[in-house]
Amino acid sequence: MMPSKKKQIIVSGIQPTGPLHIGNYAGAVQNWLALQNDPSLDCYFFIADYHSITENYEPEEKRAQIMDLALDLLACGIDPQKSTFFVQSDVAEHTELCWVFNTVTPISFLERMTQFKDKASRQEKNVNMGLFDYPVLQSADILLYKGELVPVGVDQVQHVELTRDIARFFNNKFGEYFPETKPKLTNAPKLLSLTDPLKKMSKSLGEKSYIALTDSPEVIETKLKRAVTETTGVLPPKMTMEKFTEWNVTQPEEIRRGYAGVWNLFDMLHLVGASDEVERITAAQPIKYGELKTLVAKRLGEHFAEFRKRREVLAKNPTEVRAMLDQGAEKARAVASKTMEEVRKIIGVR
Ligand code: ADP
Ligand code: TRP
Repeated sequence: MMPSKKKQIIVSGIQPTGPLHIGNYAGAVQNWLALQNDPSLDCYFFIADYHSITENYEPEEKRAQIMDLALDLLACGIDPQKSTFFVQSDVAEHTELCWVFNTVTPISFLERMTQFKDKASRQEKNVNMGLFDYPVLQSADILLYKGELVPVGVDQVQHVELTRDIARFFNNKFGEYFPETKPKLTNAPKLLSLTDPLKKMSKSLGEKSYIALTDSPEVIETKLKRAVTETTGVLPPKMTMEKFTEWNVTQPEEIRRGYAGVWNLFDMLHLVGASDEVERITAAQPIKYGELKTLVAKRLGEHFAEFRKRREVLAKNPTEVRAMLDQGAEKARAVASKTMEEVRKIIGVR
């Protein structure tokens, strides 16, 4: 018999900071679903609650945000039979390994992190140590399970590269132990904010800027009606999706914003598998943006109808969902505690 090949290890997390939106779905979750169905992979997906408390938040809201994200991810199709699915704070080894990594991570490496600089400028009164140490905890999340591939959006690549650096620092000091980690990006484009399409769609830009997976068709339609687009209805000549970004960067800001908004609507159609509609619409210019928005709203509403149904059913059974998370944490702890036992020996405390 052939010796069975070791499965490649996949690790990723999302912070419970608000409803999952179609940008998160396009950039991360869609990939998670594909990866968990590949039997040659061993997937760990978790809710990064300890990361989320580095930002301003209301303690009484956090528990509900964790449950909401669990419901969102399960309703999307994250399957606890196929993936190890859990809440970060249920596995204490994450913070324990973070501490060990703190002792091999040069402060100068953390000072370079663009997300830290970004977030620190957004919460000037709360530039806490956790916010600074955030990428080290992320490295611990990944390396605790010896993660090799990390499916995330482009904004997280710097953190995954730091993970590789930390593994190297550790291995150089104590001997080869942790693997090399690489980011895994989706082919899906970055979805943009509805209210300012020069920025990415993000929970932090407010409710009107994103479409949550839980939004009803009516809410989707209202949000899209207000989405920023250009006004002429005429696309630049011979413009293809591939060439668009290149062309757009050369335009003045207002023009860029408007056209980026239009392309964002096309990207949403691609996301739900309606590329034929994009072709039809671009072939019949001038485009009536009102009609385009109604169409996109309809297609998004339909595409996530199953999701909304599944989520409603799950939401009626919070005890069952909690039990799934508990089981996931147990599975994760079995691996995490073994890694920590080995790490304690390697670093000489045991
Ligand atoms: P947000 O900015 O809404 O708070 P997160 O930082 O929680 O989103 O991101 C969760 C995951 O979704 C990450 O892997 C991130 O790269 C991806 N992601 C976030 N926003 C987008 C977007 N607009 N388009 C594509 N991927 C995204
Ligand atoms: N920092 C990630 C984000 O904001 C969330 C995260 C925490 C993560 N730990 C992780 C992603 C480990 C991948 C692997 O999206």
